[in-house]
Amino acid sequence: MSRMIEISGLNKDYSGKKVVDGLDLQVDKGELFGFLGPNGAGKTTTIRILTTLTKPSSGRVMINSIDMAKDPSGVKSEFGVVQQHLSLNRDLTIAENMELHARLLTSPGPNERRG
Ligand SMILES: Nc1ncnc2c1ncn2[C@@H]1O[C@H](COP(=O)(O)OP(=O)(O)OP(=O)(O)O)[C@@H](O)[C@H]1O
Ligand SMILES: [Mg+2]
Repeated sequence: MSRMIEISGLNKDYSGKKVVDGLDLQVDKGELFGFLGPNGAGKTTTIRILTTLTKPSSGRVMINSIDMAKDPSGVKSEFGVVQQHLSLNRDLTIAENMELHARLLTSPGPNERRG
């Protein structure tokens, strides 16, 4: 089975404090993976790195064989996020909500539109 997520030697520090320390992790395509750990273990930081919201201090992240450092935009097209809290617009129907999110997904960003 091929890899969906491959993390090697991932480090993150804030002001010299290591919050992710040499993480190696592989998740295969089709695998269901629970990412658990004590409070402050660095789970959210790792997920933020995987979703390009936080820059790692060092290490390599590959999503579906795309190198995050070389192609952050390409990596973004490989993942989806389900939010912890309800993010539906209650004034819209379910179908309208789905259409809204589909449109946002394919909409060019404000910078692209300005150009
Ligand atoms: N932006 C930041 N600046 C400084 N320190 C941070 C920052 N974000 C996280 N930390 C620190 O990094 C460590 C790991 O935090 P993180 O939120 O990744 O842990 P977690 O495993 O998600 O914890 P929890 O189970 O409580 O959600 C903690 O000590 C936290 O205080
Ligand atoms: Mg967390």
